[in-house]
This record gives sequence, C-alpha cells and structure tokens, in this order.
Amino acid sequence: MARKITILVVDDEESVRDSLFNWFTEDGFHVECAENAKKALTMLESGNFDIILADIKMPGMDGLEMLRRIKSLKSNSIVIVMTAFATVDTAVKALKDGAFDYVTKPFDPDDLTHLIRNATKQISLTEENETLKTKIISLENIEDLIGNSEPMRQVLREVESVAQTNSSVIITGESGTGKELVARAIHSNSPRKFFPFVSVHCGALTESLLESELFGHEKGAFTGAMYNRKGRFEMADNGSIFLDEIATISSKMQVELLRVLETKSFMRVGGNKEIVSDFRVICATNRNLKNMVEKGTFREDLFYRLNVMNIQLPPLRDRLEDIPLLVDYFIRKYCTSMNKPLISIDTSALNRLQEFNFPGNIRELENMIERAIVVGNGKKITLKDLPLEKTMITSTVESLDDFEKAFILQILNKYSWNISRTATALKVDRVTLYNKIKKYDLKQVK
Ligand SMILES: Nc1ncnc2c1ncn2[C@@H]1O[C@H](COP(=O)(O)OP(=O)(O)OP(=O)(O)O)[C@@H](O)[C@H]1O
Ligand SMILES: [Mg+2]
Repeated sequence: MARKITILVVDDEESVRDSLFNWFTEDGFHVECAENAKKALTMLESGNFDIILADIKMPGMDGLEMLRRIKSLKSNSIVIVMTAFATVDTAVKALKDGAFDYVTKPFDPDDLTHLIRNATKQISLTEENETLKTKIISLENIEDLIGNSEPMRQVLREVESVAQTNSSVIITGESGTGKELVARAIHSNSPRKFFPFVSVHCGALTESLLESELFGHEKGAFTGAMYNRKGRFEMADNGSIFLDEIATISSKMQVELLRVLETKSFMRVGGNKEIVSDFRVICATNRNLKNMVEKGTFREDLFYRLNVMNIQLPPLRDRLEDIPLLVDYFIRKYCTSMNKPLISIDTSALNRLQEFNFPGNIRELENMIERAIVVGNGKKITLKDLPLEKTMITSTVESLDDFEKAFILQILNKYSWNISRTATALKVDRVTLYNKIKKYDLKQVK
C-alpha cells in the first residue's frame, strides 16, 4: 500500500531540527523531531519510524550509543548518522554498528534528499518482498473504486494494465466521474507507489503561478520569491505527477511541458541548474482534446506525448446498475465520518435514484447521500430526503418527443417495467404504451 514514509530527526540543535523538518515535510514525508537520544528512544517505543536521522555528537547519550540501542531493539528503522566531525573512524564505527549511511555537516540538503531517496528505495524493496511473500498481487486501494457494471470492470482492467507501465496516460470523462480517483489508483498500483503522487490543478492557476508551481523557483526570481522552492516535477521524482484539467494550460505552458516530457529535465524559474526528475505523467480532462487539436488550441505533438494511454470514464447514467453499490458505500462513508449509526435507504428512493440522469455524476450522487444523512431523521433515507423531483427530467431534453420519451422511461422504471401499472399511471391504454416503447426504442436497464 502507498503510504507516507516517516522520518525522525534527532539533533540537539534546534535550527538543524527545524530546517530538516521543513525540507522533508515539503517533500511529502511525515517528520517528527527529538532534541536528544533519550527522547528519541521513548518515541520509538510508542511508534515506528522508517528513517532516523541522528546527530552523533549530542549531550547525554550520543548518536552511536543510540544507534546500538535501536539496533538491539530489532527495529526495522533505517538509521542515517549526521556528524560535524567527519573522522573516518566515527563513520566506519557507525556503519559497522548498522547505520545505513552517514552524512557530514554542514550538509547540502540536496545530498540529504538523495540519501533519503536511497533509504526509501530500500524500504520499498523490503516491503515489496514481504508483500510478495504473502499474497498474489491484486489491485490495491481498489475497494475505493466502486462499481460492478461492465463499463466499470473495463475501467478496472485498464487501470490494472496501465499501472504496470511507465507511459503517460490521459483520463477523460465528465465532471465527477472519478478521474482523480482513477489517477490515484493507477499510481498506487504502479511500481512507483512508494513515491509521491503529486497533484496539480492546472485550471486553478495563472500561467506564471503554474510555471513556478511546476518547475519551482529560486530565491529572488520574482517579487515575493523569498526562498528557493522545489517544483512539483521535482517533488514527483520516482513517483507520479497528476496534471488535472490539462486542457486549460496556455500555449506557452504547452511548449514548456512538451520540453520537460521530452528531456525529463528543467530549470527552476530564475535558476540555471538543470534538474533531472524521473516522474510519470497522468493527466485528466473533461474536454475533448482531439477536437482541440483539430481546432488548433492544443498542440498535436503534446497531445500524442500525453495520450500514450487513454482511460475513458463512463458517465454514471451509463452504469445505473452501480447505484445501489455506490449508495451503500456512501452511506457507510458518511455515517462513519459523522459518527452516526449506519442507516439504510428505502426501496422506492433507491429505484428513483436509478431513474435519475446525474449530470454531476458520482460527485452529485455522493453529495445527495451526504445531504440526506444530514437532513434525514436518522432512520431510513426516503424520497423526501433526496432532491430529485425538480430535476427528474433530464436537461438534455430538446423537443417534445424527447420529453415524452424521457417521461415514459421514468415512469416505466418507477414501476419496474410493469406495463399495466405504467399505462395506468400514464393514463393511456397498454397498446399505446407498447407503441411508444417501440417508437422510442426504450429498453430496460438491468
Ligand atoms: N467509482 C467510484 N467509487 C466511489 N467513489 C467514487 C467513484 N468515482 C468517483 N467517486 C467519488 O466521487 C467524487 C468525484 O470524483 P473525482 O474528484 O475523482 O471526479 P473527477 O472526474 O476528477 O471530477 P472533476 O472533473 O469535477 O474534477 C469523489 O468524492 C470520489 O471519491
Ligand atoms: Mg477532478
């Protein structure tokens, strides 16, 4: 399972603790600090840390003694020692006693990042071996991607095969169909799962903000750039970068993005050092990029670079049979998070949901259920808890025929395609109803 790597920094100097804390937190690690060895050992009793960065020279118990104690605890933690006194002796001693590596002070944070990266690789290898021993690999985190319909199974199969590759992938689908969820599923089922999943919402940022967000910037690159800042591409090293709403980026950004994808290297804004990063790109859009290419608003070369793989998410109205599963899942999710007892939904409310066309897809369904749990009486979700009535007839109705078709289908579904009851409800005879079903080629979705 993808998880955050935890780091414990042990150093008596507050400035060292603070700077390492900030640096690694920004890199996506969970960081805690201790000002002496005794405190660190106490913290280790109550929790586990993947990596311990320990100063050697500290008042009281020194780093070497602490290292020996940690090792005698049979802990899996990887220990990296830091020393201002880089005598070969202390370093060798530390390595002999089981340290993973050492680094000398004052250190270049980039060197340290490199060391931590190696340690992280080691951790993921060990864990992968452990997992392999106990189970046959199957999709992870996939319980979050609910759906048993054929379109959804197809998506799951695609996620599984795409996850094994390093290729760029574009996820397309209407708003609320689960594009971000699928992007995360690809990452957490890929060999990159132990490294960061970095998400960038391209549509929410202006061109220059997006540029410094993606590439980072050097101190003084522009007004307000008070510190060196890593960009998202750099943070995604060994992991995946998720570019959400890729269709919104400007033509200048399209050029820059293309260059990064081709060279896998870039410079921070205001910098002159070429930075290399090994990331995998996953994009999402609710637009038709191919059309945009034809219209000349999206670069063709970039499109082909990004679109090596494509996963198309079905709208919820094309897989209405997944609604009971999804409703069940969201009821559980929200009753748990609101600390309420689990409730159920009555059959007519559930049937009605399966007649709705959900322009906002799963997000809309999820919001409806959340709201119903808040406003409901805490027993069962009923029709009156769901804001369906006004919007029952789809907004895609364009003519009277369309209206009639949608209306008849809605009533048919309501009565589970019982022709007599539907005809009665519509105040027509059964032959008329049959003729309408034929005319509009209506079919029952099972
Ligand atoms: N198959 C699914 N099973 C369970 N929950 C889902 C599924 N698909 C989507 N969701 C939930 O629906 C909500 C919307 O999903 P998500 O944000 O991934 O959609 P999106 O396609 O990125 O939407 P947008 O285009 O508006 O950004 C999220 O809360 C997500 O957890
Ligand atoms: Mg999204």
